[in-house]
Order: sequence, then C-alpha cells, then structure tokens
Amino acid sequence: MKLIDIIPVVRMLLSDDGLVCCKTEAKTDVSDSETACISIDQSGDKASLITALQAQLSQAAQPVKTVLVKGKGRISIDAPRDEAGFNEIIKNRIVIITGGAQGFGGGVAEELFAKGAHIVVTDLNEEAGDAMVSKLNARGQSNKALYVKVNVSDPHSVKEMIDQTVMALGGIDVIISNAGILRAGGLDEMTPETFELMTKVNYSGYFYCAKHASHVMKLQASVAPHHFMDIIQINSKSGLKGSNRNFAYAGGKFGGIGLTQSFALELMPYNIKVNSICPGNFFDGPLWSDPENGLFIQYLKAGKVPGAKTIEDVQAHYEMQVPAKRGCRVGDVTKAILYAIDQLYETGQAIPVTGGQEMLK
Ligand SMILES: NC(=O)c1ccc[n+]([C@@H]2O[C@H](COP(=O)([O-])OP(=O)(O)OC[C@H]3O[C@@H](n4cnc5c(N)ncnc54)[C@H](O)[C@@H]3O)[C@@H](O)[C@H]2O)c1
Repeated sequence: MKLIDIIPVVRMLLSDDGLVCCKTEAKTDVSDSETACISIDQSGDKASLITALQAQLSQAAQPVKTVLVKGKGRISIDAPRDEAGFNEIIKNRIVIITGGAQGFGGGVAEELFAKGAHIVVTDLNEEAGDAMVSKLNARGQSNKALYVKVNVSDPHSVKEMIDQTVMALGGIDVIISNAGILRAGGLDEMTPETFELMTKVNYSGYFYCAKHASHVMKLQASVAPHHFMDIIQINSKSGLKGSNRNFAYAGGKFGGIGLTQSFALELMPYNIKVNSICPGNFFDGPLWSDPENGLFIQYLKAGKVPGAKTIEDVQAHYEMQVPAKRGCRVGDVTKAILYAIDQLYETGQAIPVTGGQEMLK
C-alpha cells in the first residue's frame, strides 16, 4: 500500500472520537523517549495493513501518537483543537475550498476557519491564495490554514492538490468545489474555445475534485464507518433555470447537478454525502462589484438597464428582482454548507440560496 493511502487510514484510526489532523515526516527513526509509537510494514495489501494496525492499537499500553511506516516515514497526530467560538459541526474538520482565494470561496474559507475548521485554500491565483492564508493564520487560532496551488481544469493538478492536502494534514473531511468562471455570450458571440474552457473549469473540474477526494474519503470510511464526509459543489441559480445569453455557464451548472445526483447514489454507501448549493447573485463580490470589470459597470456602460445612470441604479434594478430585495451574501452560503454537513439524512440535493428568486419545482 502506498504511503499516501496509508495516511488517511492512520488518521481515522488515531482519531478515536475527536477528529485529528496528522503531520507526516520523511524521517523513520524513533527516539527512546517515544513510547507512544508503533511501527508497521507497508508491503501488504490494504486489508492486512488495517488488521495489523488495529491489532497493535488495541494492544498499546497508552494512546498511540505516532505510526512509523518502515522505510517510508512517520505519521504523527496533532491534538484536536477547541476554542471559544468554534462550531461543533465543523471544528477540527479538514476542508478543501477550490477557488478559495477570493469571492464566495474566500469568504467561506474565512467563516469556516473562524469556526474551527482546518482550511486548505486552493486556487490558480498564487498571490491571492497566499494572502488569504496569511490573513487566516494571523488570527492566531490553533487550527491550520494552508494554500495549495491548483488548476481545477487539469486532473493531474487536482490529484496533486489532494495529495498535498493529505501529506500536510492527514486526510479530507469536506471538499467544496467552488472555483468557477463566467464568460457570458449568446450563440453568435460564444466561441468553441471559450465554451470548452468554461466547461472544463465549471463542469469537469467538479468531476476531478469528486474523483480524487472520494478516493481518500473511501479509505477513511473503510476504518471509520460512522464518520460522515461531504462533497459540496457551489452551483448557482443558473443551474436551476436557463440564463439568457449565458448558456455556457448555465449548461455547466445544470450538468453539475446531474453529477451531484449521480455521485450521491454512488458514494452514500461510504457515508460520503454529495450536495450542490445554488446561490443567487453575489452583488458584493468582485464578479459584480469590481469597479473596472464588474458586471454592474459593464451593464451600465452597455445601457442594459433602461434609465440607469449610476452603478447604484443598476444594482437596485437587480436587487428588485429578488423577493428578499438583496443579493446573496457569503454568510448565506456558509449557513447552507453547515446545513449540508450537519444533515446526515440528505444527499444528492441542489439547495437554493436565492432570497426566493428561484424555487424548486
Ligand atoms: N458571483 C456570483 O454572483 C455567483 C452566483 C452564484 C454562484 N456563483 C458561483 O460561486 C463560485 C465562486 O464564484 P465567485 O463569484 O466567488 O468567483 P470569483 O471570480 O470571485 O472567484 C473565483 C476564484 O476561483 C479561482 N479560479 C478560477 N479558475 C480557476 C481554476 N481553473 N482553478 C483554480 N481556481 C480557479 C479564481 O482565481 C478566484 O480566486 C463559482 O462556482 C460561481 O459559479 C457565483
């Protein structure tokens, strides 16, 4: 069995009731003072390795803190963390957020980190990803945040993101497939190249994330049958209703819900829930509010909203279309994520968070 596959198994076996994160080191020596250490041989298959580990753990005189994998390295646990303000649903969980450097992903990363999750911000934008993680770690909390570069449209890059997460923290409890792009355009303007790009990021990227994360989650499920895990896709209200001159985006998002329903059927036997969250327009985020390229300024310049003279006029026009009379906010999405994680009796759903603008049929 490969070291990368042994690590999540060891993590769950050492977790007991509290979730732990694990660190791995290449060194294979053990000091005399390290009594809470056992050693295993990785040459066997998965079943024999798990049996050997379980036998040693049950015989150990004291709680095991380190597992030495002969000739490969050592896996050590970090104690579970708890602080005032940590949330029972999410604390000590290892959460990957793709596109976590800014926008919805960045906001959710901040909110889940504040609630005690270990956060892996993964993003194409290295500078913004590093800045986000520095901001999180500057809070001085005991949980961890780290940045891993990824291009979700490249399956090798996604596999590398998963491996780096496992090497750094020991496993994965939640992956939020959030990275997405929008290039609007009708049939006359949309080029096959732009259509392919959007499909690769918004649709295929979700498949790659689910494929590689579920491999780790299934390993965890094999030794921790009562541990529930989550794959969550940040979809859109455009995944529930067609979007005029925006079909490349809406098509990929509709497809994402098909993936969610199908992954959910395949993965529930491993206690892996799969749900999509469908936010309404995030007017405060850069997609809409960027002063140079945001949709508000673009729509103002294009005269898309009749009579609008300022950005505020354009924003008010769009807010009026929402029964709740405002755009979707990060906090609205985080609440839906926490609901999806907390709710053990639901999977394969597309949860609208649209202020009433889109309703399920
Ligand atoms: N903004 C909205 O109004 C809105 C509404 C509903 C749903 N959504 C969805 O929410 C998600 C986030 O949207 P946002 O508006 O916050 O976007 P955003 O543009 O503000 O942020 C997206 C992040 O994803 C990263 N990214 C882009 N392509 C990537 C790739 N190939 N690999 C890795 N990272 C990549 C970007 O660098 C950026 O940090 C998307 O899936 C989007 O479809 C957005």
